[in-house]
Amino acid sequence: MAHATTFSLKIQTLLGTVCWLSISCSAFTSQDYAEALDKSLQFFEGQRSGKLPPNQRLTWRGDSGLSDGSGDHVNLVGGYYDAGDNVKFGLPMAFTTTLLAWSVIEFGSSMHNQMENAKAAIRWSSDYLLKAATATPGTLYVQVGNPNVDHSCWERPEDMDTPRNVYKVTAEKPGSDVAAETAAALAAASIVFKDSDPSYSSKLLQTAIEVFNFADKHRGSYSDSLGSVVCPFYCSYSGYQDELLWGASWIHRASQNASYLSYIQSNGHTMGADEDDFSFSWDDKRPGTKILLAKEFLEKTTAGFELYKSHSDNYICSIIPGTPSFQAQYTPGGLFYKATESNLQYVTTTTFLLLTYAKYLSSTGRVVTCGSSTVTAESLITAAKKQVDYILGDNPAKMSYMVGFGSRYPQHIHHRGSSIPSIHAHPDHISCNDGFQYFHSGSPNPNVLVGAIVGGPDNRDNFGDDRHNYVQSEPATYINAPFVGALAFFSAHN
Ligand SMILES: *[C@@H]1O[C@H](CO)[C@@H](O)[C@H](O)[C@H]1NC(C)=O
Repeated sequence: MAHATTFSLKIQTLLGTVCWLSISCSAFTSQDYAEALDKSLQFFEGQRSGKLPPNQRLTWRGDSGLSDGSGDHVNLVGGYYDAGDNVKFGLPMAFTTTLLAWSVIEFGSSMHNQMENAKAAIRWSSDYLLKAATATPGTLYVQVGNPNVDHSCWERPEDMDTPRNVYKVTAEKPGSDVAAETAAALAAASIVFKDSDPSYSSKLLQTAIEVFNFADKHRGSYSDSLGSVVCPFYCSYSGYQDELLWGASWIHRASQNASYLSYIQSNGHTMGADEDDFSFSWDDKRPGTKILLAKEFLEKTTAGFELYKSHSDNYICSIIPGTPSFQAQYTPGGLFYKATESNLQYVTTTTFLLLTYAKYLSSTGRVVTCGSSTVTAESLITAAKKQVDYILGDNPAKMSYMVGFGSRYPQHIHHRGSSIPSIHAHPDHISCNDGFQYFHSGSPNPNVLVGAIVGGPDNRDNFGDDRHNYVQSEPATYINAPFVGALAFFSAHN
């Protein structure tokens, strides 16, 4: 980059692309990334369950789920709907919270006036997870809403009259995956609130430790305990070992308590962290854990942690084109491609890990080793930027995959609240079946779910802006959460 400073001539082309001579063109300015950051946080307001506060910005939404938990005589009001439906699924909600918190922990210093919105987004779910973990001793509530019935209706959350069943894990019906992810979320959130709200932060950390101990002591997968109410929706395909290591890693980072260090040292190598995969997601925590633990080695050369640096390097080498062990798939337009359904979730998580690892490497003067070649932190940032820009509209379809950002974005997203007239515009109840007229309508959604990132294009860069096409047109909280950190980074380092 050094030679670029000799040419600071800025050329604004007809397409709005900003170029500096001698360096590659960037489709977006720092202000664009800041705007996208603001919008990506507004999206979480659109997913809110519970009583909305006076400063709610997505005003087409109303209160919902105000008696959630009453079936079990507990208060489970609040939290987030995961995607285009009205169920509160614990596993993706906890993962969303962990990644929102991780975004603030690594890139909060670049968030400026968005910091309060980011903290509000975290607190909306950390408050809920605290309730879910402490309402009844020996119990973690992991879901509100019967997904099979919910999915057979097309209703606004404000109208829903489907069963709000509560589901839980206990010593007899364990769920180490969902419990350890909840522990990770609470521990990561405790770091975010450490200075601004110390008493809230210590409550989060103390609860994280209790939930982790419960997860570790009563081992089992929540998919086995809860069956068809969590599968196939958020079935724990990867099992629970990955979440136990991830949870312990977050509690170690939040508490610096040596007993979690020993836990990682004695159990880490058996918990699947050596396997190569590049699908960091609400299900599979391995790539994220490798990067998180590599930091410990890079900064403190902690005994037994060298392996996480080499695992992280292997992970990075597998996704950076041109390295000897490259094996990931990209679309012709350059989008990282992992799966047909909601592919952008893998793009946003991978992008976040690239930037986070780049941060850890550059602060310790290290590089990635891929066999006989090396990859610098700078190249990881360049690779991450390509993915971010693609999502925001620099792609063959010339389409922004963030709703409300840019001049062309998805108009028919698979989302009940967004596609049915607002409760304020149309106060009369719209029943389970009556909602389907809006689902099947060819009209654009009446309510703009600002900032929502949808599932995204297929492996040929094609996108069908069609409400029925949920694999491409449905947004989800865990697609947006890691993108918050990436946008914060580029709003400050463009
Ligand atoms: C560290 O964690 C262990 C296990 O949760 C706990 O027993 C111990 O009291 C903690 N130590 C400190 C100093 O907090």
